[in-house]
Amino acid sequence: MTGDRILVQLKHVVNEVAKIAHETFPKLIEIKTDIPRDLWTVSADPTQMHQVLLNMLVNARDAMPHGGTLSISAENVNLDAGHSHTQPGATPGPYVSIVISDTGTGIPADIQGKIFEPFFTTKEIGMGTGLGLSTTLAIVRSHGGFINLTSEVGKGTTFCIHIPATGTASGEALASVKADLPMGHGELVLIIDDEAAVREITKETLEVYGYKAITANDGAEGVALFAENAKDIRVVITDMMMPVMGGEAVIVALHKRDPGVKIIATSGLTDKRKIVTPPDARVRVFLTKPYTAEKLLTTLKAVLRGGGLKA
Ligand SMILES: Nc1ncnc2c1ncn2[C@@H]1O[C@H](COP(=O)(O)OP(=O)(O)OP(=O)(O)O)[C@@H](O)[C@H]1O
Ligand SMILES: [Mg+2]
Repeated sequence: MTGDRILVQLKHVVNEVAKIAHETFPKLIEIKTDIPRDLWTVSADPTQMHQVLLNMLVNARDAMPHGGTLSISAENVNLDAGHSHTQPGATPGPYVSIVISDTGTGIPADIQGKIFEPFFTTKEIGMGTGLGLSTTLAIVRSHGGFINLTSEVGKGTTFCIHIPATGTASGEALASVKADLPMGHGELVLIIDDEAAVREITKETLEVYGYKAITANDGAEGVALFAENAKDIRVVITDMMMPVMGGEAVIVALHKRDPGVKIIATSGLTDKRKIVTPPDARVRVFLTKPYTAEKLLTTLKAVLRGGGLKA
């Protein structure tokens, strides 16, 4: 489920689906929206985002056959490391959160765990395929996001969709942030990471700041890409913790191919000593994930200038 990813202002997508709801939902349903203008940007497939939100709104509509209130709101949130523990698989960092609330039937506790399963529906035959939420969840996950659900029978339901933010502010603000951080000049960077969200955010950031980037999903692919593009690649950013071919093996292979290769190692591990021990003196810098755009860009600049032996 990987569509074309571009920098998306989710507020436009949210406003678009809200407009469809306004025009087509029964008048007994009151629709409220609260979308801040400075909502951060995300790296997403806008068509898929549209599909996700529309399914949520249609579900809310169907849950209110006698009318009610449908609220759609959005906000910028920073998920800290502590919080991300409550959300397995969620990387700490900036997210755009979209909240869709209805005052409908609610979802009984015993079926809350089933609604994301393919073909689970409580709708009459011909009224729903039960594929809406399973597709929605797959799309959100493929964007590195997650969904929270709270519901009470007879009161209503709230779905909260989190999508990782790539721009720290709206287009305008991003431009001003941009001016303060060291820009690249078209240097090619190879990003090796098994986590799609990390790869995409890193690539996106580098491209916004004047670099070129290519990505590999695992160590073997990374080594192959390096072999093909060794002449052009200026820096390699590699995750240390990857299945099959881990960072250590990648570093050895890259170094064999080009002893002058500049490598930035990254890991979610906080214990640096584990990684920057002698065999990896080839590693210029160690970055702890999640890293900010600022940390990434300043580190990259230092490495390109030939410095940065210490993290
Ligand atoms: N806002 C909501 N309020 C109450 N129940 C809901 C809500 N959203 C989803 N559900 C429950 O979850 C089930 C699955 O939703 P899902 O979107 O996957 O399929 P569907 O809406 O039944 O069919 P489809 O989306 O394919 O037309 C619904 O049938 C309904 O029982
Ligand atoms: Mg549905």
